[in-house]
Amino acid sequence: MKLYDLRTEYRVNPIGIGRIHPRFSWKMESKQADTVQKSCRVQVRTGEKMVWDHREESETSVLIPYAGTELEPETRYHVTVEVTDNHGNTASETMTFETGIFRPEEFQAKMITHDFPEEETACPVFYRTFPLKGVVKQARLYSTAWGVYEAYLNGARIGDERMAPGWTSYHHRLQYQIHDVTELLRNGCGNVSQNKNPEQDRLDTQNEVPKQAALEMIVGNGWYKGIFGFMLQSSLYGSRTGAFAELHLLYEDGSREVICTDEAWKVRTGEIRYSEIYMGETIDTDQPEIREGHVSVAEFDKSILTAQENEPVRITERIPAKELIVTPKGEKLVDFGQNLTGAAEIRVHGKKGQKIVIRHAEVLDKDGNFYPDTLRQAKSIDTYICSGEEQTFLPHFTFHGFRYLCVEGLDELSTDQFTACVMHSDMEKTGTFFCSNPKVNQLQSNISWGQRGNFLDIPTDCPQRDERLGWTGDAQIFSWTAAFHRNTALFFSKWMRDVAAESSLEKGVPHVVPDILGQYSSSAWSDVAVIVPWVVYQIYGDKGILEESWKCMHEWVDYIRSQCGENGLWQSGFQYGDWLALDKEESADRTGATDKYFIANAYYLYVTDLVKRTAEVLGLGEAAKVYQELYDNTLEAFRQEYYTNTGRIVSETQTGAVLSLYFDLAREKDRERILQTLRTNIENHKNHLATGFVGTPYLCHALSENGAHDLAAALFMKEDYPSWLYAVNKGATTIWERWNSILPDGSFDVSGMNSLNHYAYGSIGDWMYRKVAGVSQLEPGYKRFRVQPMFVKGIEEAGIEFESVYGKILSQWSCRDGKIRVHVEVPANTSAEIWLPEKDGAIKAGSGIHEYEYETETSLAFERFSMDSTLGEILAEPLAVEMFNQMAPGMLENPMLAMAHQMTMAELCAQAAEAKPLYGAVIGALNQQEIADANAKSKKMQ
Ligand code: BGC
Repeated sequence: MKLYDLRTEYRVNPIGIGRIHPRFSWKMESKQADTVQKSCRVQVRTGEKMVWDHREESETSVLIPYAGTELEPETRYHVTVEVTDNHGNTASETMTFETGIFRPEEFQAKMITHDFPEEETACPVFYRTFPLKGVVKQARLYSTAWGVYEAYLNGARIGDERMAPGWTSYHHRLQYQIHDVTELLRNGCGNVSQNKNPEQDRLDTQNEVPKQAALEMIVGNGWYKGIFGFMLQSSLYGSRTGAFAELHLLYEDGSREVICTDEAWKVRTGEIRYSEIYMGETIDTDQPEIREGHVSVAEFDKSILTAQENEPVRITERIPAKELIVTPKGEKLVDFGQNLTGAAEIRVHGKKGQKIVIRHAEVLDKDGNFYPDTLRQAKSIDTYICSGEEQTFLPHFTFHGFRYLCVEGLDELSTDQFTACVMHSDMEKTGTFFCSNPKVNQLQSNISWGQRGNFLDIPTDCPQRDERLGWTGDAQIFSWTAAFHRNTALFFSKWMRDVAAESSLEKGVPHVVPDILGQYSSSAWSDVAVIVPWVVYQIYGDKGILEESWKCMHEWVDYIRSQCGENGLWQSGFQYGDWLALDKEESADRTGATDKYFIANAYYLYVTDLVKRTAEVLGLGEAAKVYQELYDNTLEAFRQEYYTNTGRIVSETQTGAVLSLYFDLAREKDRERILQTLRTNIENHKNHLATGFVGTPYLCHALSENGAHDLAAALFMKEDYPSWLYAVNKGATTIWERWNSILPDGSFDVSGMNSLNHYAYGSIGDWMYRKVAGVSQLEPGYKRFRVQPMFVKGIEEAGIEFESVYGKILSQWSCRDGKIRVHVEVPANTSAEIWLPEKDGAIKAGSGIHEYEYETETSLAFERFSMDSTLGEILAEPLAVEMFNQMAPGMLENPMLAMAHQMTMAELCAQAAEAKPLYGAVIGALNQQEIADANAKSKKMQ
């Protein structure tokens, strides 16, 4: 047995830890089956001093909070973990962590700003040189900005973050970044930055111990001051950018020094002449006019400072250009083959003063021309003025959503000049889904890219248009799926602190966080306050987020309660409803056909139950009772209001039925009827979905969990509009905002709201991983989990690999050539319940590898005939005619039947349910015949 992957607060040997009780985790690996932790010992030391020696007889190996003597700031601690397992083996491993500043009030630096006139668009460069008093032993830089910034020390870029300090609710919270800059001060100059400090030349040269150093911070407008929101407002948080930094130096002789931003700093403009997130960036390297300004100290409340909480935004992948295109209109385009978020790096050797303009788009129109309309008012234009030398350009303080570049100002293009730099919060990759169907694999890729494109410091709705806001509904809907792909614990914990900071009992929870719209409290959107902490707890076993969010979670339920009428239901105020559902003519409100207060109360019940369960987890017995009672009363009122005595729903839509079943709202006796309502509704839509943001995430789950998995599978595998694979067939490389973002004829939805990179409908991922691959957590963190694969026609093999907080879970199955094979890997210190397809009962499995192989008659090969085939297509087969004549004599002679040739079998079933078994038998026989014919053909060829 051995220990591996030790973490402090999810990070490997981190520095700058700002929590006073950081939490430790480790994983166990063992060749012996059924291994669990029996006891552990955690020792924390600094130098020779032991500050915590903790023993525990328990299986807990995830997020154990430090509880020793008070940690010192800016101190390195060594942690030794020793574990004994149930077989009597012992193993130990070590890690380190370093604390940062616990009390932000103790920072000595001042927020400095500049006095450039309002019309000046160039980014200010704050800088200062200072003598070094000796040889530096250790140096840490704490820095942040009003705006977005890059810091340079002796000309070398510090860190590799993009868009730091990230976006928080700046009124309440501002992150600072922490960097170990020791090497930059010991080894002299690094790479000279593009925005060269004028005093750079006077610095010591490379490899000599420098005697003086220069610190420089370039600040762009970013979210703080830049143009942002539908109305293209600017200065949302303040009218001037600013810089804040503190360099902590420890010299070899033991003396210390702190260099801070203050009145002694200088400011000038640099090569970045303009930079806006929506609009793009202009960089002039042809001796632009450099203006000197004056630095002044701005009033700033340091108590809002918080150490970097989530993984920063970074360039996580560099994608080479795939193809150059000249469009029918004569535009010169570069295609990267993937819709993505980030910026393009270009390498050029232009003439001095030559201007290159790069525009961005997600898609081409049906004639093959550049189509930037999905960007709406966002211009996304990067402009570069060349110096005459060979140069590489990449914008600093903007990002775009694009697949194509349109390049102006370059005569000759070559693919190797262009690289797409993919940017997003650098969350650890944890999950992959794979299967034998290439279209489903492309869908999985699109879902994953949707997350990469939109988890840019906050969960945004889209990365390309004049929006890119932290829409709470989208994030809530996608949060289960997201937590499978990447470790979202830190990302969501940080964002939930902003949700909490901007919510209140009086107004409820905002629609976007950080809140720049001032709109609050729609169900499914504001419910994020409860759902996301619950998701993080379930996936990572992180109770901390529940503790931190508890107030905001229960206050959201309390807020709804305060809005309820005498009947105890929430039936007033604004609601987004089943946003973008297809069951109502598109109208200004886009809310779909489901009664919006039905949705509001269904969610009210869902989150009340989660708040009750959270109270239980946190040991708040009284609160648990209160919310249980509220739940019971509300459920009763809900049933009175929204279901008839015989089980009809007030809103007989797909979403109405789905929420009734999935949230377990319907009376037990009515569930069967409601399932039938759902089936009929789907059949009436030619076996297609009609759901929007609210119904879509649960539609297939509700079917699979209620005995209609085949219908879920059929919906999932649809390839025509509206369906997930429809977009795949249309060449999508990300998830679209709408089912019809691109219409069958190649034209676009023109409602003025059409993004090709929105993740909400990617929430089907959760069903793919839990139902198709079959893995679900039974206990938080997957300490105990279930494996229960559910077959889908057209997929003969599927699986997932998921790096849980205990280690790698693998579940893989295949069903072909008359054999079912299942392979499951259960990490040490966890256990699983394995439900094999077509077998009864669960197998209890401890850690280790579990393999099964057995015979089956099931074939999952793609079938040509289904309930979607038209009657005409079916009757074209002589076998079908023969069967109808035999099983329903006279039926084909009915003259009305001629009119039904264009109808699908599903539509016919919706009209005459009693004919369903007959139709099913005919379809089954036709597919059997297809298989037999195909087998005969392949035998002949052999
Ligand atoms: C966003 C959505 C969001 C919605 C609110 C849109 O503009 O892009 O994804 O949830 O507004 O209804």
